[in-house]
Order: sequence, then structure tokens, then C-alpha cells
Amino acid sequence: MINKIHTLGGYFHEYQKSYSNPEDFWEQQAECLYWRKRWDKVIDWNFEEPRINWFVGAKLNITESIFEKNLYTHGDNTAIIWEPNDADEQAISLTYRQLYVEVNKFANALKSLGVKKGDRVALYMPMVPELAIALLACARIGAIHSVIFAGFSAQSLADRINDAGAKVVLVSDGGYRGSKITPLKEIADEAIEQCPVVESVVVLKRTKCDIQMVGGRDIWWHDIIDGQDEYCPAEEMDAEDPLFILYTSGSTGKPKGILHTIGGYMVYTAYTFRNVFQYSRGDVYFCTADIGWITGHSYIVYGPLLNGAQTLMFEGIPTWPDAGRFWDIVDKHQVNQFYTAPTAIRSLLSLGNEYLAGKRLDSLKVLGTVGEPINEDAWHWYHDHVGKNRCPIVDTWWQTETGGVLISPLAGITPTKPSFATLPLPGVFPVIVDNEGKELKGNSVEGNLCIKFPWPGMARTIWGDHDRFRDTYFTSFKNYYFTGDGVRRDEDGYYRILGRVDDVINVSGHRLGTAEIENAINEHPLVNESAVVGYPHAIKGQGIYAFVVCPILSTGGEEGIRKSIKEGVSKIIGPIARPDLVQLVPGLPKTRSGKIMRRILRKIAEGDATNLGDISTLLDEDIVGKIIDSALVDV
Ligand code: WTA
Repeated sequence: MINKIHTLGGYFHEYQKSYSNPEDFWEQQAECLYWRKRWDKVIDWNFEEPRINWFVGAKLNITESIFEKNLYTHGDNTAIIWEPNDADEQAISLTYRQLYVEVNKFANALKSLGVKKGDRVALYMPMVPELAIALLACARIGAIHSVIFAGFSAQSLADRINDAGAKVVLVSDGGYRGSKITPLKEIADEAIEQCPVVESVVVLKRTKCDIQMVGGRDIWWHDIIDGQDEYCPAEEMDAEDPLFILYTSGSTGKPKGILHTIGGYMVYTAYTFRNVFQYSRGDVYFCTADIGWITGHSYIVYGPLLNGAQTLMFEGIPTWPDAGRFWDIVDKHQVNQFYTAPTAIRSLLSLGNEYLAGKRLDSLKVLGTVGEPINEDAWHWYHDHVGKNRCPIVDTWWQTETGGVLISPLAGITPTKPSFATLPLPGVFPVIVDNEGKELKGNSVEGNLCIKFPWPGMARTIWGDHDRFRDTYFTSFKNYYFTGDGVRRDEDGYYRILGRVDDVINVSGHRLGTAEIENAINEHPLVNESAVVGYPHAIKGQGIYAFVVCPILSTGGEEGIRKSIKEGVSKIIGPIARPDLVQLVPGLPKTRSGKIMRRILRKIAEGDATNLGDISTLLDEDIVGKIIDSALVDV
């Protein structure tokens, strides 16, 4: 069993212990899991190269900590509860033993395609049990999984498959999303045309929509597992061998393949899951994220399963058939811990309390949020109406790069304050620095959030680009990992995340790079250049505001161009990146050296033109007034 903290005093004690001797602390946590060979050294690191190695020399297979270690004690307990998109379809539950068999069979299926240790497997799938099975099957044979969120476009999918060099792609015919079907196989076919490395495509039948099977390349999931042996020996892996690549957005255009390795990620997700959610054996835990994002990796699949937990996977969306769906699921499966994103809370709040009427919600013990700052209104609604004033809220701050939660209350233990992620977990040592890199000590300070010591779950590199890894996270502030977030530490030492300080925006909890969106806009034939910024949006947290220079208007006029720009972005990146507002402008505010002054555009998009700061370095100061005059928000 993973160690669990029970009291606030216990938290402070563990924190202190971890601070004075992180190696001993993490060694104790690691000992709760199953290793074939013990480590020679707990950690070997420097943040200059950076080189981050945890549990050096240890050998393991993460699936043995999930299965072999526990099958005799809780093999018949439920591992995965699956709730389909359509509530009339039968929910499925898989015990640990059943899941183990499915994982082994699929692992053997992958082997039959020639997948070996270190090979990359890309997944473009809906939220079905086979997705979790496939991740674990990859881990079983030492293949590196790379899940691509099923809302991305063919182009985005192709870019990621190529960057990862995936030779096998797992897909389903289609994916249900409420009343709609996304033609995943069709999108994947378009993508794979541009991916010469792909040798095989395994297709799961889910929606039974019409698809084309490509001869010599495509094979049905049910055919490939048919007759496979129910046991597949686990590949012996090094603690620092890769577990997965997950793409995320950064300040520049190209998405980054964040690489996580096995040993440290295992220890970190197992420890944080148990402690943040205060999970007890028998509880039903429901995280509403998609496995296409880090939250799904760490807190639907690995963290819960390493704890022998019952983890609920939901295929559908919160608003179908109506906005009471989450609450129906909570009642139906007697969910104890519920973890979602502020954007979902805001959207359900805006639809009214009638969808909560008649829902009992009395099984709930803990509520969680992740992905973006939660505003106080949403926090109170969640607390009062969903948690009925009984359930602590854990506002968990973390990132794709951090692998697991870094700053969060421990449910029911750490006193909470609305919109505060509160205190760092044991083993996590945050620092706040000003723009010059000077550490701001003490309380009541605000600045850039950095972490000064490694934790086991942190990313090790960007796939194929270690220089970019160093430059992005370790050069802004010497000897620190820089998160890209601004933060305030209040008078009580509590942390409140203020949002990104770089060119990353957070739209409905999805992380997007402004440069990526600009690149997509600039592909429009009539567009000269563009600049994208975030602006406050009541439901999405941030909306996407694009300022676009487009000197010649087509026959469709301004409206037509705006529409085709938005559609272009949807097509190139995916609907999640579709701009909310497109303002056609005569030019962008640029300095004499040609740099766009985004600060000004951000202010305008926020509807505040009162304090634009120094604009004297602008090449053409008049442009600012022109942009303000035709702004799409009240300035
Ligand atoms: C933001 C999601 C405020 C933050 C797990 C971070 C948050 C980015 C919170 C990472 C929170 C995440 N409060 N902001 N509780 N959690 N963020 O990589 O800006 O998709 O840098 O990981 O989301 O997003 P990512």
C-alpha cells in the first residue's frame, strides 16, 4: 500500500522530512511499489544540462506494480468502471484480473505486429476501456505510448505521429461525443498518408460507422486479439526508460513531445493520487478528463491503478443528453471522489441548478479541480451545490511536464481557501522569483513560479530535442525549473496560481500556444500576418482573440473572411483552437525592430486601454488607436 498522510500535523511532518532529506523520503515511497532490482542511487541530477535520473540502476515493469503485486490480494476487485456515451448502453466493469488478461492479450497482439521495447505506438481513440488496455499493453512490452487527443485534426495528428516516429497507430472507426460521431478512422487515414513510418493500423469497432480498411496496413482490433495468449511476460525495463510521450503546447509553434520515464513517474503518480484524493480501498473515483491529456494518464490510468483503485472512465460529454449527466453518473456508480476542470463547472453552473434537482450526490466525499485557475463563483457553486457543503475541494495545480500534482490541498486535511491551490506536496519545493531571477522570500509576494529541486514525476526531456527542453524550462532562471506560471504566496503562505506568464493560453482547460494558432491563421491565402492573445471568457476561462492583417477582402467580405479563418484553424489544429474573436486590423503594433508588442494587444483584448504602458518604441503609434476603435470587445 502507498503511504498515506492522515492529519495536518502528519502533512507538516512529512513535508519537513522530505525537505531535510528528499532521498530518504522518496526512497520510502518507492519501497511501496514493486521493483525487480533495487536502485543503486535514489537521484542523480543537475538542472544545467539538465540531467534528471531517479532510482538509478533499478529494474521494473510498471504493470507488475499494478497487477502481479496485487492480483492475489485484490484481483477480483473492480479496476475500471466504464460508462458509455449513451446511458442506455450497458456500463462495463473490469476486475484487476480481467484487465490483466486483456492487457496481456493486447500486449501479445502488439508483439505480433513487430512492436518491440522502445518502439512508439500512437493512439487516437475515444474514451473506451481499450484505450486504457492499450496503454498498459505498451507498458507491458516496453513500447512507448503517445496518445493524441481525439479532438485534434488530421494535420496535428500527422505532425505528432511523425515527430514520435510511431510505427503502429491505434484508432477506432469513430468516437461518440454526445449526439455526434467523430470519424476518427477517416481523420487518421488522411493523417497517415503523410506518415511514411506507419506500418500498421489497428482499428477498434465502436460506432460501426462506414470506414475503409487499407489492405496490408489495417487490421481489426477484434481480429488481432483473437487467439492471443492470456499471458505476456513483462519486459524488464530500466527506471529511466521512457514510458510515454505526450504532446503539449509551448510558446513556439511546434508542439513539444514531453517525455516521462517509468520509475519516477510510477512513484509520483501513485503517491500523489493516494494523498491528494485521500483514496481508501473500495472508493469509486471518477476523473472526467480525457486520456488524451496528462490528467487522464496520471489520474485515470496510472495513479489509481497503482493504488488498486476503482477508476471510472466516461466516454461522453457533460451536457448530453442533458447537463445533469455527471450527476447521474455519480449517483449510478456511487462515486466518492470526483475530479473535473473549472471550465466544466462554469459551463454547468451557467446552465442552471435545475440539472441538480433530484440528484442525491450523497456518495461524494471529495471534489477536485485541475487545469486552470478556478474563480470564486465557480468554487462556491461546486462546494455548495455539488458537494453540499460537505466535501473538501482539492484545487490541484500541476502540468503535463510535472507528471503529477505539485501544489494542492490534501482532501479534508489541508484547510482550503477558494481559488488557492494551497500548499506544496511533500517533496516539492517551490520558489517565487522576480523577472531578474531574484528569489522573493517570505509571504505576501508575487512572481514567477519555479521549483528548485527535482521530484520523481518530472519530465526528463522533449522527445528528440533536449536543447529545447533545457531552453524552455531551465534557462530563464538559473538552477530552477521554470513553470511558465505566475503565482502569489499570500500572508498565510498559501499559493494562488495567477495563470501563464508566457505565450501559452488556457482555453477550457486545454493548453494552446498562441504561435501555433497564428501559424494556422497565416496559412489562409488572404492573411498577411496575425497575432493571437487570450482574453477573459466567462465559461472557457480564456477565449482566443486573433488580430489579423488581411489587406484584400474576398467576395465574402469581412464576415466571410472571419469565418473562413476560424474554420481554417479548426481544420489545421482542431476545433479546440478555433478563435472566438477575429478582428481584421490594418496592421499590428510593432517595435522598430519588428517585434509585435503583445502586451498592448492583450490589454485591448481584456477591454482595458487605459494603461497601455510605454508605446513610444512603436513604429506606428496610430495603429493602436485604430485597433481600439474597431475592437470586438468593449474597450
Ligand atoms: C494551468 C494540466 C490554476 C497552469 C494538468 C499550468 C492551473 C497549465 C491549475 C498546465 C490549477 C493547471 N490552478 N492553473 N489548479 N492546474 N493549471 O499541461 O497554467 O494541460 O501551467 O496540465 O494549466 O496545463 P497542462
